[in-house]
Parts: sequence; C-alpha cells; structure tokens
Amino acid sequence: MSRILNKALRSKIMSGEEAAALIPTDVNVGMSGFTGSGYPKEVPRALAMQIARAHIEGKPFQIGVWTGASTAPELDGALAMADAMRLRLPYQSEPVTRKRINAGDIEYVDLHLSHVPQYVGYGFFGKLDFAIVEVTAIREDGRLIPASSLGNNKTWLDHAEKVILEVNSWQNEKLEGMHDIFYQTADPPNRQPIPIIHAYDRIGVPYLRCDPSKVVAVVETNEHDRNSPFSPPNEISSRIADHILDFLEHEVRKGRLPDKTLLPLQSGVGNIANAVLIGLQKSRFEGMTSYTEVIQDGMLDMLDTGTLLSASATAFSLSPKALERFNQNIDFYHDKIILRSQGISNHPEVIRRLGVIAMNGMVEADIYGNVNSTHIMGTKIQNGVGGSGDFARNAFLSFFMTPSTAKNGAISAIVPMVSHVDHTEHDTQIIVTEHGLADLRGLSPKQRARLIIDKCAHPDYKPALDEYFHRALAMSPGKQTPHLLEEAFSWHTRFIATDDMQLHNHNHNHLISS
Ligand code: COA
Repeated sequence: MSRILNKALRSKIMSGEEAAALIPTDVNVGMSGFTGSGYPKEVPRALAMQIARAHIEGKPFQIGVWTGASTAPELDGALAMADAMRLRLPYQSEPVTRKRINAGDIEYVDLHLSHVPQYVGYGFFGKLDFAIVEVTAIREDGRLIPASSLGNNKTWLDHAEKVILEVNSWQNEKLEGMHDIFYQTADPPNRQPIPIIHAYDRIGVPYLRCDPSKVVAVVETNEHDRNSPFSPPNEISSRIADHILDFLEHEVRKGRLPDKTLLPLQSGVGNIANAVLIGLQKSRFEGMTSYTEVIQDGMLDMLDTGTLLSASATAFSLSPKALERFNQNIDFYHDKIILRSQGISNHPEVIRRLGVIAMNGMVEADIYGNVNSTHIMGTKIQNGVGGSGDFARNAFLSFFMTPSTAKNGAISAIVPMVSHVDHTEHDTQIIVTEHGLADLRGLSPKQRARLIIDKCAHPDYKPALDEYFHRALAMSPGKQTPHLLEEAFSWHTRFIATDDMQLHNHNHNHLISS
C-alpha cells in the first residue's frame, strides 16, 4: 500500500529525474540527512547526472548544498563527483567531497550544528530555494512522518520556497511517534526558554508540517540508508575508555556526579566514542540517560541491558547489523528513543541545564589544551566541527579523546601549538589518550602543559615536547603561555605529506633529537 495518503500530494508523484529537472542552477538546496541516515536518495543522484550532462554540454551548473550533517555517497559523493556543489554546509565526511573541498573546488562553511537552524531563520545565509527531504510516510491530512534522522528538516520545510519530498518505504513505519518536533520557537527578542528539564522530556509533536502549496514533487523510493560498521574496540580505544571510566568513578567519589546514573551522556562520532559506550555498558553504572547527537551501536547495547533508560538524539548512526536488530525490536526501543531537530538536540541552553557529560574525538591537542577537531596538518579539512563545540563548551564535564599518535606512530597528537583551533583552552576540560587523562579544570596554562605532556603524550614524543616546553619557559618573552613561535609554527611542517596523507619524508629520530 502506498505511504502517500494525502490526495493533493499524491497528484505530485513523479520520478527522481523529473523532480531533479525542476531544480535550476545557482540555487541553495536544503537536504535532509545526518550521519548517513534519512538523506534523500533518488533526487540528488538524478540531479548529479543532470548536472554532469550540463557540464559536458558546456553549460555551467552548480548549487549550494545545505544538510543536517554528513550524508552518503548517493548524495555528497554523487554531487561532488559531478562537480555540482559550489558551496557545502555545515558538515561532511564523504571522501570525494573532502577531496574537492581540499582542492579548493567547493566553498565549505564549517558550522556549529546548533547554529544552522537559527542562522537560516535569521536569513544569514540568504534565500533557501529548495528543500529535498526524506520522510517515512505522508498522512491523509498532509502531516509528514519523519525518517531515521531529523537534523534540519523542520528548518528546510519552514523556510524553503519549494519542497521536494522523498517518501522512502524502506524506512520502518514504526518510527512514527519516536520524533519530537518543537514548533514554539520565536526569534529574539521574543524567544522563550526550551522546556526540557530531563533528557527524556517530550516538548513537541511527532510530525513535520509543510505547506502543501510549496510541494512541487513527491518521489517514491525504497532504498536503504548507508551506514558503515564500527571497528570493535582495540587496545587503544579500550584504554581510553578505561581512563574515562576511572575518572567518572573519581568524580562520583568526590560527590560531583550522581552515583550509578551519572548525568546525561553525549557521545561523539567514531570508533573511540563507540568503545567508550561499550566500556560504560560493562561498568557498574546503570539507569543512565543520554542527551546526544547520534545514536550509535553502543547506545543500543546500553538500552538493551538497562544501562541506559532513554536516548535523545537527532539521528541514528547504526551499523547494518545494529540496524537490523533495531528494526526487529523497534517496539522495545520505541518509547526509549527520542529524535529531535538538531537545533534542540544540540542546544547550548539545554546541554547546560541538563549537565551533559560530553565525549568527543579530536585530531590533536596542544600542550595548553587548545583542540583541533577538524584539520589535518592545519590546512586540510577532515570532517567538520559538527556538534563538538555545542556540547564541549556547555557540558558539565567535557572529554576530548584521541590516540596519542596518528599514522602508525609517525605523528604526535599532542603538539606544542595546534595547527588549527576549534576549541580554545577556555572551552576544554579533560584531554584523554591511551596513555592517560589530563584533568585541566582550574589549571593555569603552564600547569596544563606539564600535565598534558606527562599524562597524554606518547613516550616517543614526550622528550621533544618536554624540551620544547622548558626552552619556551626559559626564552619566551611572556611566561603566561610560553611559546617559541617560529618553532611552534614549524612543528607540523616536519611531517611532509602527500595528498593522500601518506608520509614520505618522516624522520622520527630527527624529531626526538631536535
Ligand atoms: N595528524 C594527522 N592526521 C591525523 C591526526 C593527526 N593528529 N589524527 C587523525 N589523523 C588522520 C587519521 O590518520 C585518519 O586518516 P586516514 O583517513 O587517511 O586514515 C583521519 O585523520 C581520521 O582519523 P581517525 O583516527 O580515523 O578518526 P576518528 O574516526 O576517530 O575521528 C575525528 C576523529 C576528530 C576526525 C572525528 O571525531 C570528528 O570528525 N570530530 C569532529 C566532529 C565531532 O566531534 N562530532 C561529534 C559531535 S556530536
């Protein structure tokens, strides 16, 4: 049976190719999609083919692409391959898109994810011409049942001039009721508090609304989301998880965290974050809640065992295996999981009120606690800042974690000065590697440097970092944050890398002895 029950919208059903043909060059398109979930599949691919054909015919054709966060090869990959994007925001993690951004072919605006809906609402990015939003079904009265992510869908539907809906019958119909969309927002000076007091509070409605007169096409599809499997925890990620668990126990003993239930958890993207969740699942903590951005495998495991009672996020980011389990047991998860718009899942006000425990990955940290989450060697984007800043800056406790080295030990993740700053020393609290944990709260820059080098640096790099810090202390004109600027700037250039980041001129011994 068709999932499109609204008569007026049924009359707008067409193929992905026909819908894509409605999109002209030089427009801004807001697309659904967050961490490989709930992105439109048919129209972006058809659009990419049409743009590729236009380029062959010598016609210029590019669009601005706005999303919730990362998508998948069918969206970012297809459009990047067709050289179809002049601008991309606010987050991506797709290899071809990354390559094009780093080659200078796409203007990439890397944003805190909580900012996107309000910046669009305020008109900071100009006009949103089209929205392409995946939904699970359309009710008789036109209400839309969202899919496996919410991201910025409400914002796109509210603000786009024209809307294309992709109705995906692969999405589980029982997702209905798991979403919570908050419509009572107003711009300053009339903005009201967001009434979330507990991580599991519902404050909105489970459906998206869209003015039917804006809908120019409805496309049916049956294609699956594309999420990748997590690697099982290895020795490094397990040791990082152990350090975090020990620290949480320490905070409980100090009376700063509630015993057993802690405070709501936020867990970032990637394998290390997932390993920490697995560590928590095996711990004595139970009855916890999460207020986070994405629900990954580890959180599903925690819900299974009662370690976690509820999970609030904006999207799923499940491996294919975990997704199968989720679909088989969706009745069990239904009332335990809430999907919110990213403006709410990542809202600083709510994160601060709930006292979230934030755990995010990073590329590198410097000895003073500044953190780089986004750039490889200072100039090349990896993914983007995502929600890491929304959570880290406003959390009750905030961890940044990384293996102590990258590229099989060839690069230290602890450096004198980060090659790019996403989170300043004022926003970071706790740095963790497999070697240890540095609790930076209440410490001055010099105290931070001693602790980070001692606890977090890899033993191969400790002597060079120690030596740098002591010389900087002796020779730096200012003693608040001692630096030898030329040397700090040149630290990264010792690692000369090719485009695909294969080091070809690495001299480890030179580094240690310099
Ligand atoms: N120097 C040079 N390269 C480095 C590096 C460093 N210090 N640290 C990592 N890299 C390289 C890795 O070698 C790898 O390269 P490859 O793809 O060529 O193998 C790449 O960067 C990714 O590293 P990896 O260890 O696989 O990353 P990850 O999956 O653990 O993710 C981040 C780490 C920082 C990229 C990821 O957490 C991120 O994008 N964070 C920002 C967004 C965020 O925090 N979102 C969550 C908010 S809810």
